[in-house]
Amino acid sequence: MGIGGSTSLEARADGLVNVLVVGSGGREHALCWSLAQSGQLGELSCAPGNAGTAELATNLPIGPEDSDDLVRVAVERRVGLVMVGPEAALAAGLVDRLRERGIPAFGPTAAAARIESSKAWTKELLQRIRVPTARADVVTTLHEARRSLARCSYPVVLKADGLAAGKGVTVAGDADEAEAALDELFVARMVGPAADTVLVEEFLAGRELSVLAFCDGERLALMPPARDYKAAHDGDRGPNTGGMGAYSRPGFASPELMRQVRSQILEPVVAEMAARGHPFVGALYAGLMITPDGPKVLEFNCRFGDPETQVIVPLLESDLLGVAQAVVNGRLDETSVRWRPGSACGVVLASAGYPGPHPLGRPIIGLDGAERDALVFHAGTARTPDGNLVTAGGRVLTVVGVGDQLSEARARAYRAVEAVRFEGRHCRSDIAADESYGD
Ligand SMILES: Nc1ncnc2c1ncn2[C@@H]1O[C@H](COP(=O)(O)OP(=O)(O)O)[C@@H](O)[C@H]1O
Ligand SMILES: [Mg+2]
Repeated sequence: MGIGGSTSLEARADGLVNVLVVGSGGREHALCWSLAQSGQLGELSCAPGNAGTAELATNLPIGPEDSDDLVRVAVERRVGLVMVGPEAALAAGLVDRLRERGIPAFGPTAAAARIESSKAWTKELLQRIRVPTARADVVTTLHEARRSLARCSYPVVLKADGLAAGKGVTVAGDADEAEAALDELFVARMVGPAADTVLVEEFLAGRELSVLAFCDGERLALMPPARDYKAAHDGDRGPNTGGMGAYSRPGFASPELMRQVRSQILEPVVAEMAARGHPFVGALYAGLMITPDGPKVLEFNCRFGDPETQVIVPLLESDLLGVAQAVVNGRLDETSVRWRPGSACGVVLASAGYPGPHPLGRPIIGLDGAERDALVFHAGTARTPDGNLVTAGGRVLTVVGVGDQLSEARARAYRAVEAVRFEGRHCRSDIAADESYGD
């Protein structure tokens, strides 16, 4: 899995590596923050970035789906490594475009990104190699879907096949809810062509766990496991969001469980993708349900999670730039990826009304105080012409506490949260709270 001989053309004479991070969320700020600690880093750029990445990188006003412009600036700026955050850019083939020009890119090709961009494709792959996952029927019409529902028991899970920005999955408690979900998918077309194909999937009970791994096409280095919180309000109530918080490491993710995840799930999937001619290169993210019968796959993502990345990257002891280069050069075995012991807890501060309509341009104060206790990663932030920090999106900041114990990490995060002020600031108060109940 090399990236070809053209790499050396891009290299700087001083051996430093210019890096471009693609995306604008807390995930990308966390990646920039980690890359900035590398002694090998040359110039760091972020496209389009946010007010947080602007402190560490040159922000370039180019969106993640503008692959022509991204390739052009990568060549112009003699970029030796591109790290791509958002899944839509990966599914659209940004990494393919970059590699065609000899630019090393951390992330899967469009063909390998299907592990996220087609749940039906992935279900077939998992079933073929007998990786534990929820049983599912793959259907393409309302009629077929109803026939499948007639045979199933409730609750049942209905999933749009394609990318749907977290809006393609419904857990239906009864036949009426299932019918309403089918109507949204097939008739109202709420997620468009992502629901041309739909999965009618067995409901799995258990605890959810996210396991990410660096992957060089053949070999894997697991990251510390994480849990994320998608619902807007405490107690997992309210609408689904991009993510309201996360922590690492959950107590129930024992070393034995992690060994099982590696040998029964990640290794066979990576081997099968390579065997099918589209090896996975980048960060592979397994969304798992830990059931009484062991871990089972709910889905895969083809990139770092947000906000999981904000709680994983602070635990990385190795140089992220070195690890990412080992990944793209197919040399992950030569690099041992080391992690610090301990835990990290990340709390997302959102704008009032998020994930619905929300105001923008609200002044943000108190970051200096927060940064005494915690890491503050920006997402929807911007600077006014006179340099003041203001809100510029639904998710505004991820505040991350790190500590030897999760309780300590959590206390630091929430202490720092108290220091940050902006009008309508909303966050969950129960991130990592259930750990203390003896999980
Ligand atoms: N088979 C299943 N059984 C129980 N819950 C599920 C199942 N599949 C998905 N879910 C729930 O729905 C959420 C979203 O599903 P997922 O497959 O991760 O899709 P996406 O992240 O693309 O929206 C999961 O995090 C989980 O809470
Ligand atoms: Mg998911």
